[in-house]
Amino acid sequence: MIFKQINSGGDRNFSYLIYCEETKLAAVSDPSPDPVPVLNEIKKHSLELQYIFNTHSHPDHTGGNEYLKNRTGAKLVTFEGGGGDLGVNDGAVLNVGNISFEFIHTPGHTPDSICIKAGENLVTGDTLFVGKVGGTYTEEEAKVEFESLKKLMSLPGHLKVWPGHNYGIAPSSTIDNELKTNPFIMRLNKFEDFLWLKQNWATYKVEHGIQ
Ligand SMILES: [Fe+2]
Repeated sequence: MIFKQINSGGDRNFSYLIYCEETKLAAVSDPSPDPVPVLNEIKKHSLELQYIFNTHSHPDHTGGNEYLKNRTGAKLVTFEGGGGDLGVNDGAVLNVGNISFEFIHTPGHTPDSICIKAGENLVTGDTLFVGKVGGTYTEEEAKVEFESLKKLMSLPGHLKVWPGHNYGIAPSSTIDNELKTNPFIMRLNKFEDFLWLKQNWATYKVEHGIQ
């Protein structure tokens, strides 16, 4: 399995291209806002793109879908009911060559947020960033996200975390590292503490020198 993180413009967005070396079959996660760098990689390695995954329905993650579909014939995969060619539920598995992709429903940032596990890699979309978590608007959404993050943190610690935006001090992390250093994750024992940090994040960032 080859796993590539690609800068795709916008607000420091990341796309991910994952492919099977033997069969040259590929999948891409969130080829947006700019799908051209992703298409260039596909061409460069003579890949056949089978699936486009969307980690959630925000336009900065979905904007490149049509462009890439029209040029590759790939099928769009979203959370069930999300308007893709294929809908996936929590626990669904899709195979691409010898790669197994497992989908984990992680609502909160949006109701249709999913994370995608492939081998040692976990694509976390806007649910989990390096040192931060996805934005929410209401206490109810924050509670839903809190539960989703607890679910993610029960996964093996060595898994690599690959976020939807380059918002942290590094472009990727691990579950273990987030457990030790991410101030939101360190507050998963108590929802009130987690919510407090969300509500006071702007001040907390300044006080702790976080960019
Ligand atoms: Fe988003």
